[in-house]
Amino acid sequence: MTTREPRTIGVLISGRGSNLQALIDAVADGTLDAQIAVVISNKANVTGLDRARTAGIDTLVLDHRGFASRDEYDAEIARELRARGVSLVCLAGFMRLIGAPLLEAFPNAILNVHPSLLPAFPGVDAQRQAVEHGVKVSGATVHLVTGELDGGPIVLQSAVPVRDDDTVDVLSERILIEEHRLYPQAVCLILDGRWRVDGRRFLVAD
Ligand code: GRF
Repeated sequence: MTTREPRTIGVLISGRGSNLQALIDAVADGTLDAQIAVVISNKANVTGLDRARTAGIDTLVLDHRGFASRDEYDAEIARELRARGVSLVCLAGFMRLIGAPLLEAFPNAILNVHPSLLPAFPGVDAQRQAVEHGVKVSGATVHLVTGELDGGPIVLQSAVPVRDDDTVDVLSERILIEEHRLYPQAVCLILDGRWRVDGRRFLVAD
């Protein structure tokens, strides 16, 4: 097995990849001191793969439908990430639940970005859930991934207003701006290593 490189990231995507782009841009402009070793998508022909290729990043399509079980699929992803020395996994619009083989291979080393202020509105269509619920404030959350869907310790959050005339699309755009700002920051924080998890709480050292 390849040794893990301390500042080496693997990104998992399923689609557009705008959060992947935010990470690529942060690496390129020096605000994120890391290398993105690989981008893995469970879907072929998605924009996120083009973004990775344009940035010269190794890409891999692993279609979950080709595997007998979710565990086998997750174990294969873990193998591919380890083979490239990845120490931190970033989910960026990866539309699959993460199971035990991947969680155990990367304990407290998988991050996700979610378009709501968790624990409000976990799961799909978080922005629609927020509009339909009638909340006045929503936002973005970066959290560590555990076996509970969108339920791991919260690393960073940012709030945005929900306005009376917002459509789901308009709110999504406003939240996305915060996602793109927050995600590279959260990755820096994790890679700097001056943090610990205490129960549900993610705590940064003084
Ligand atoms: C983002 O809204 C993210 O919060 C959610 O899925 C969306 C992915 O968008 N998990 P993109 O693929 O990063 O553009």
